Amino acid sequence: MQLVSLSQAYIFLSAVPLLLSLSHGLWKKESNIIKEGVFLSPKFDIGPGLVENRYYYDIDFPRGHIAIKDFTAEVIDEEGNAVPLYETYLHHWIVVRYYRRKGVTHTGNESNSDQVTVANSGLCPPELLGQYFGLGSETRGTTTEIPEPFGIEVGNPAEMPDGYEEKWWLNVHAIDTRGVEDRLGCIECQCDLYNITVDSNGQPLRPDYLGGLLCCYDKTQCRMKEGFEGPRRNLYLRYTVKWVDWSDLIVPVQIYILDVTDTLQASNGSNSKDLKHNCEVEYQVESCSKNQKDVSDCIDVRRTSLPMPRGGYVIYGVAHQHIGGICSTLYGQDGRVICSSIPIYGTGKEAGNEEGYVVGMSTCYPQPGSVKIMDGETVTLESNYSSSRPHAGVMGLFYLLVAEQLPN
Ligand SMILES: *[C@@H]1O[C@H](CO)[C@@H](O)[C@H](O)[C@H]1NC(C)=O
Ligand SMILES: *[C@@H]1O[C@H](CO)[C@@H](O)[C@H](O)[C@H]1NC(C)=O
Ligand SMILES: *[C@@H]1O[C@H](CO)[C@@H](O)[C@H](O)[C@H]1NC(C)=O
Repeated sequence: MQLVSLSQAYIFLSAVPLLLSLSHGLWKKESNIIKEGVFLSPKFDIGPGLVENRYYYDIDFPRGHIAIKDFTAEVIDEEGNAVPLYETYLHHWIVVRYYRRKGVTHTGNESNSDQVTVANSGLCPPELLGQYFGLGSETRGTTTEIPEPFGIEVGNPAEMPDGYEEKWWLNVHAIDTRGVEDRLGCIECQCDLYNITVDSNGQPLRPDYLGGLLCCYDKTQCRMKEGFEGPRRNLYLRYTVKWVDWSDLIVPVQIYILDVTDTLQASNGSNSKDLKHNCEVEYQVESCSKNQKDVSDCIDVRRTSLPMPRGGYVIYGVAHQHIGGICSTLYGQDGRVICSSIPIYGTGKEAGNEEGYVVGMSTCYPQPGSVKIMDGETVTLESNYSSSRPHAGVMGLFYLLVAEQLPN
C-alpha cells in the first residue's frame, strides 16, 4: 500500500460495540458506539543522524462534542511499515488542544488572543506540559484506553468562547540514529555529540548542561560513524483516536501531568501564597560507579512533593521514563501508593520490541472509587533510574486521569 497516494489523512469509522472492547468496564451502555479514526501527520523527511522537531497546527482530529476514549500513535514509513526505534527514535510526540479565532489561519505569528491553549488541569505551566496526549518511545507498548463510563470531554460548544473553534496541534520529535557513533548518546541528546554550545535562540548553555532537548532541536545533526551513507526517507506519525459522542452517561476525567523536577516557588514580588510551578521537564542522572562498591546499588532517586488543588478518583495512571528508568511511584500524603509504573524494555529486533529501548510502561487502572486523592492533598512523586552509568536529558513525568465524581 502506498500511503502517499492517499489523501493526507484517512479515517475509518468502525463501529465497535462497547461490550466487546471493554476490559475494565463495570457500567455498560450498549447503545454507545466507539468510533475510531486513523490519521497521518504531515510527512517529514529525515536522514542519518538528523533530528526532526516540528509543530503541525490544525491537525486532523474528530470534531464535535465527544468523549475521547483512547489516543495511540506510531512512526511509519511511506509503505505504512512500523519504523523501529533503533532507526528512528521517537523522543516524544505531544498533542495540544487550543481555541483559534475563526477566519485566522496559522501563520506562526499570531497574537496570543487568536490562539488560546486549552491546557490540561496541571500542574506545570501550560506552555511546558499543557498537552492532552503525549508519549515517547514507549508509545507502541503502553495501554492508554480509558475505561467505561469515563472519557475526556472535548468540543463542548458551551465552553468555547464566541468566535472561536477548537483545534489541535501536534509536535513530533524524532531522531534518526542510523549510522551514528553513539546511539544512546544521540537519543539522550548529549550536547558534545551534536556539537551544540548555544540553544536554538543563540543563548549560551549552562556549562553543566550536558544533554537534553536544548541540544537536539530541529535539524541538529548527531555525530556519525566515519563514511556512513544512508538514504533520507519520508516518515509519518500515524495516530489513532477512539471516541464516543458525548452523553450524560459519560463521566468526565481531568488530565494531570506531574513532573518530578517540579519545585513550587514563590513568584517574585508577591505574597508567599502565590506559588509558581517550576518544571524543568528533564534532568541528569550522574554515574555513581566511582564511589560505589556495588554497582547494583546505583540508583538515582528523585522525589518531589506537590499539593493537588483538586482531588478525585484515580481512573488511570502511567509514568514516562527514558532508558535507564527503573520505576516511578506516586504516593499519597499518608504514604499509600496511588500508582506505580514500570518501564518495559524490548528484547528483540521488531518494531515494538526493540532490544534495550523502553517500549512500554506499565499502567494503573484502579477499581474506580478505590483510589482517591483528597482536595489539597500533597502527593509525592518518585522516579528511580539506574545510575550505573550517567544519563542526560531523562524525564520523570506522571500522567493521571482523575474523575471528580463516580457514576451514579
Ligand atoms: C509578527 O507580528 C508582529 C506584530 O503584528 C509584527 O511586528 C512582526 O513583524 C511579525 N513578524 C513576522 C515574522 O511576520
Ligand atoms: C562544531 O562547531 C564549531 C563552531 O560552532 C565548528 O567550528 C566546528 O567545525 C564544529 N565541529 C564539527 C565536527 O562539526
Ligand atoms: C527507589 O529506590 C529507593 C532506594 O532503593 C527505594 O527505597 C524506592 O522504593 C524506589 N522507588 C521506586 C518508585 O521504585
